[in-house]
Amino acid sequence: MKEKLLEKFKELFGNADGVSLYFSPGRVNLIGEHTDYNGGHVFPCALTLGTYGAARKRNDRLVHFYSMNLDHLGVIEASLDELVNKKEYNWANYPFGVVWAFAEKGYTLDCGFDMVIWGNIPNGSGLSSSASLEVLTGVILKDLYGIDALSMTDLALIGQYSENNFNGCNCGIMDQFAVAMGKKDHAIFLDTSTLNYEYAPVVLEDAKIVITNSKVKHSLVDSAYNQRRQECTDALSELQSVVEIKTLGDLDEETFEKHKDAIKDPIRQKRARHAVKENQRTIQAVAALRAGDITRFGQLMNQSHISLRDDYEVSCEEIDILVDLAWALPGVIGSRITGGGFGGCTVSIVKNDAVDTFTESIGQAYKEKVGHEAEFYIVDIGDGAKRL
Ligand code: GLA
Repeated sequence: MKEKLLEKFKELFGNADGVSLYFSPGRVNLIGEHTDYNGGHVFPCALTLGTYGAARKRNDRLVHFYSMNLDHLGVIEASLDELVNKKEYNWANYPFGVVWAFAEKGYTLDCGFDMVIWGNIPNGSGLSSSASLEVLTGVILKDLYGIDALSMTDLALIGQYSENNFNGCNCGIMDQFAVAMGKKDHAIFLDTSTLNYEYAPVVLEDAKIVITNSKVKHSLVDSAYNQRRQECTDALSELQSVVEIKTLGDLDEETFEKHKDAIKDPIRQKRARHAVKENQRTIQAVAALRAGDITRFGQLMNQSHISLRDDYEVSCEEIDILVDLAWALPGVIGSRITGGGFGGCTVSIVKNDAVDTFTESIGQAYKEKVGHEAEFYIVDIGDGAKRL
């Protein structure tokens, strides 16, 4: 891939002298969904799928972006003198948003740059292709402009800031953090209220993590996401009138049950119940994994799905079909929707000797029921974003 990127760079920008290469992964979340903007815990890991970038500074104020996945869009040109989101920038609003966010945080660039990317994270699948691109851009800017003061956590926060304020999705910190801080063969147990984290080795003995892509993405994802977030914010302020908490993540289930009637609207109450219980499940799941109890981990994944389906209502028919099919198969330890929801992917833990049956039989049944194919990826857990 590196050669292809350099070749393209040369073709577009005359030569590839002094060009640097970078990689930034996608992520899959094992458990802890829709908890990150509620001060709860998450447990994602970085993938070996990701986004590659080649970049070099320019002598003028222009910024050029080119994606080898979207050749038909050609070179997208923007200027450091006009750091605004424009529809015609298309995908480049993600990296350009990071340039904007750097400036907002006091890191203005004194000259532009050229950047060519290629990635293998399926877009819109809930595996964080946008966070991957944001953190990739952060790593590139830090490296090209020698901004040593910024840590990888800072780059994750800047990525999130750009997504929230330049690209209009009010996402939490999980995706950018996982992409920036990933570690081979480990998942990240992150407390989103403090950003304290621990790496937990993912040792599954005789099983594998399998991602199934439903290949559906229902529209209005961002607005439904922002709406869930708002419902949780409202539920929190109602609860704060009866119990002293900073976030929903501060509550255990018992305390929640005691005070839940402060939340007047039944739908809001369900949303908050998910946030509270999912956080507790995540803590329990990490303990189970550390104790080598994969069966318990799988049960908690299944409960997570039920809660996301019924209380948080972010699943959809196609995803429920995939999860139901998985639950019915011997050798499946756990299966749930992963990521923001409304389509995208499921994540499953599957015994090694059941993986082939899993992909074949679910693949066939899904096609019969839904009308198009699903896609399967056997997960390798990789490192976070870096210069190559
Ligand atoms: C999206 C967001 C994350 C997180 C998940 C749900 O991926 O970007 O911040 O909220 O949804 O867990």
